[in-house]
Amino acid sequence: MTKKAELHYDGKVYELPIITGAENEKAIDISKLRGQSGLVTLDKGFKNTGSCESAITFLNGEEGILRYRGYSIEDLAEKATFLEVAFLLIYGELPTAEELDNFKEDVSKHTLVHEDVRSILDGFPSKSHPMGVLSSLVSSLTAFYPKSLDPNRSAEEVNGTIIRFIAKLPTLAAWSFKNRMRQPVIYPDNSLDYCENFIRMMFSLPTVNYEINPVVAAALNKLLILHADHEQNCSAATVRIVGSSHASLYASVSAGIAALWGPLHGGANQAVIEMLEEIKADGGDVDKYVAKAKDKSDPFRLMGFGHRVYKNFDPRATIIKKAADDVLSELGIEDPVLDIAMELEKVALEDEYFKARGLYPNVDFYSGIIYRALGIPTDMFTVMFALGRLPGWIAQWKEMRENNEPIGRPRQVYTGATQRKYVAIDKR
Ligand code: ACO
Repeated sequence: MTKKAELHYDGKVYELPIITGAENEKAIDISKLRGQSGLVTLDKGFKNTGSCESAITFLNGEEGILRYRGYSIEDLAEKATFLEVAFLLIYGELPTAEELDNFKEDVSKHTLVHEDVRSILDGFPSKSHPMGVLSSLVSSLTAFYPKSLDPNRSAEEVNGTIIRFIAKLPTLAAWSFKNRMRQPVIYPDNSLDYCENFIRMMFSLPTVNYEINPVVAAALNKLLILHADHEQNCSAATVRIVGSSHASLYASVSAGIAALWGPLHGGANQAVIEMLEEIKADGGDVDKYVAKAKDKSDPFRLMGFGHRVYKNFDPRATIIKKAADDVLSELGIEDPVLDIAMELEKVALEDEYFKARGLYPNVDFYSGIIYRALGIPTDMFTVMFALGRLPGWIAQWKEMRENNEPIGRPRQVYTGATQRKYVAIDKR
């Protein structure tokens, strides 16, 4: 017998079906509630609302579990390559050796972007934030591939758009950095793997061929895997809702990049380092900043702390913290900002305010420290996140289309003026 929840309202009882997920999580299906009772639900920020059923990523915030298609993030980050994980997220299964070879080859054939992209790039001032540039360049792909505007094409054609996207994003991301530095762009080298090719496009110059450090390439591979998907977060939900109007994949992800940019979401990795540097410049008084974060009259928050879903620990942060230690010691880097981060983490974790609210370091707390060690400038950090998140956005968009989901259109509770009469002013 299917379970039901009952809602008692105004002398009537409404039965609401209970939906059970693969990991036994339960949801009340309220989709017919308004038609039956006239009621809508109100849940600002969707804190307690499921927007879809999804088979891509499972996370349990209480127990700190994160799995892509059933595989634990710990295993994938330790053993897989980023393209393998991208394949898993997008197509639902890990690739065979042959499928992976074909996928890598397909991706490597499409890394070049149209030469006219350089003219668009040249139009951006050098001070442009690379996230704004990236979002615009991704949107501009619709102009170079107008057929991609129709998301209802054959699965094979949609797949062509997907492959092209994975192939070109590293080029666009590295070029947004080159624009920032006012350096000539470096063209992709298809003989290199995904991470190596990106690193080379970032750091090489026409006059200097950057020697790729395998430690740097391996750390980047791990970071991209850790960022590859995270179920219905702000940017993934944005991608799905934009795509639900049948907007193209490029347009939907361009919007996702904009959503990721904000400091409460992916932009936190940049904000963390800026905060740690500020604390350092201010004499390194960690207690002062913890007190500021607790003070409700002060807008300051500890960046890199807290998460909508994780209220115990963020499993990605645990992996990244270890990776940060490894990378710094392997590259022989001593970063005073890391000392401040460790102290801040210790003080906050022992503090009642943070304990009571389940506020722990999130993925962004340590990722910036690794990016710094890899030589990536602060305002490129969120671009790195976007590069990692692309397979997740694609998988979310594809699933939403394949499930034929209706257009996303929330309800509201109107609180403005009730009807009033327009009286024309005397227009002298
Ligand atoms: N510093 C101080 N207090 C905090 C912090 C923080 N970083 N985060 C939450 N709180 C407090 C809130 O003030 C609130 O206190 P109250 O109950 O006394 O009012 C309580 O903890 C709950 O916080 P909410 O803002 O209601 O939680 P929400 O789920 O809406 O926000 C968020 C989650 C946005 C991540 C928040 O914790 C935050 O702003 N963190 C800092 C930014 C950050 O690191 N973002 C990256 C998240 S990971 C990612 O997107 C990849």
